[in-house]
Amino acid sequence: MTKEEKYKELVEDIRALIDGEKDMIAVMSNIAADIHQTMGYWWTGFYRVIGDELVLGPFQGPIACMHIAFGRGVCGTAWKRAETVIVPDVEQFPGHIACSSQSRSEIVVPVFSHEDNKKVIAVLDIDSEHLATFDETDRKFLEEICGLI
Ligand code: SME
Repeated sequence: MTKEEKYKELVEDIRALIDGEKDMIAVMSNIAADIHQTMGYWWTGFYRVIGDELVLGPFQGPIACMHIAFGRGVCGTAWKRAETVIVPDVEQFPGHIACSSQSRSEIVVPVFSHEDNKKVIAVLDIDSEHLATFDETDRKFLEEICGLI
């Protein structure tokens, strides 16, 4: 299966999985697990905006840092810019926060509030142990998935 085909099935799967579920942690937990199992990336998880920082939420993969300040690292940058950030080589990203030395490339996608579609309420962070893993296909489908939350 191509990446695109995997994502198409994944999106439909997630749509059905979270249909009618109102609890954000339950939704994020199953989304992280489904993306992780289907796509086989190194680390897949959410950070939620709590006060003036990001706090680790549901994830799959190795342990990770628990608090990230606004504008810090790839996650804090995606929050600040309120847009997806794709990093082909984390060593070239100034301020990258290395939760794991295995992580080589990364994508972070903001999750927006339904009440105020400019307000970021969380970010989805996915790490790969290979360089340049993430592309426009990941962006397109992961943004669609984050829009379902
Ligand atoms: N690398 C991220 C931190 C989170 S971990 O990768 C799970 C960053 O720079 O924001």
